[in-house]
Amino acid sequence: MATSASTDDAALAFALACPKAELHVHIEGTLEPELAFALAQRNDIDFPYASTDALRAAYDFSDLQSFLDLYYACADVLRCEADFHDLMLAYLRRAHRDGIVHAEIFFDPQTHTARGIGFETVLNGLEAGAATAQAECGISSRLILCFLRHLSEEDGFATLAQAEPYLARIHGFGLDSSERGHPPVKFERLFARCRALGKPVVAHAGEEGPPDYIYQALDLLGVSRIDHGVRASEDPALLERLAREQIALTVCPLSNVRLRVFPQMAMHTLPQLIGAGLKITLNSDDPAYFGGYLGDNIRAVQAAFGWDAKTWYGLARNSLEASFADESDKAAWIERLDRAYAELR
Ligand code: ADE
Ligand code: ZN
Repeated sequence: MATSASTDDAALAFALACPKAELHVHIEGTLEPELAFALAQRNDIDFPYASTDALRAAYDFSDLQSFLDLYYACADVLRCEADFHDLMLAYLRRAHRDGIVHAEIFFDPQTHTARGIGFETVLNGLEAGAATAQAECGISSRLILCFLRHLSEEDGFATLAQAEPYLARIHGFGLDSSERGHPPVKFERLFARCRALGKPVVAHAGEEGPPDYIYQALDLLGVSRIDHGVRASEDPALLERLAREQIALTVCPLSNVRLRVFPQMAMHTLPQLIGAGLKITLNSDDPAYFGGYLGDNIRAVQAAFGWDAKTWYGLARNSLEASFADESDKAAWIERLDRAYAELR
């Protein structure tokens, strides 16, 4: 898996340029300080930071909750369709530069509807931004509605009722926010309803929470992917199951370091997870807050582990295979990836 310096550079260049999917990114987590200030001004909001530098200085997180407190506060600048449009367009333009051909993007409607913003305002704006980006650079995207797990299952059901008229525009459902103390079992009935609607479901599990939350996400929620899942490395039987069933994990390395799941990149268990045969994908989570987009995650991982092109090819292939895109699109992207890999060799 590890290489010499020159093949290392070639592997990095391949990893950055090859076609790939991003399967774990929160659109609210792509809000850069510059855009936050511009939207605060446009919406005449008194933003509680003096400058973009002052806001960036607050990005010193001790754990998931310390990040979420700031993330929800900053989302207050998102008020009208144009704001959601601009946010989505900025992310997808940036993603395109990292070789991303398809992105599956989480949005948190409860963060907005609780502030009196209409569900349709959020959805229309995000979709319009995605359409602009698709026309501009051909990038494909899908929306995954995430329920906030610190809220009740009843609140989740109310959000699902708001979403039901728009189901054709929502590709799947997920579970995010404060993990500890909010196990997947809390949402068992809600996720059964989402699955009955014919939608794929995913859940954050094993980011800060124990391996048991990963078992619950699989067995009680029926997820087709696990978001994060890095604490699976503590449970050999779980590792064996995830490898056997080829359940994709959407791992977010810079996020894990910034939220102190691992003290530094070199201590990340990615090599162990890949070595155990798991279907690993790399993602950015909340790139505006965690020091970078997918390309930055790739650079940071390569600096720590120096993988060869075959490993990077495998990760890109996993991301395309594990996506919820149409099979014909997936096949076309995988063919492009295979060609790029063949040319390298
Ligand atoms: N919402 C946004 N980012 C998140 C993360 N890393 N974990 C849980 N919920 C989130
Ligand atoms: Zn996440």
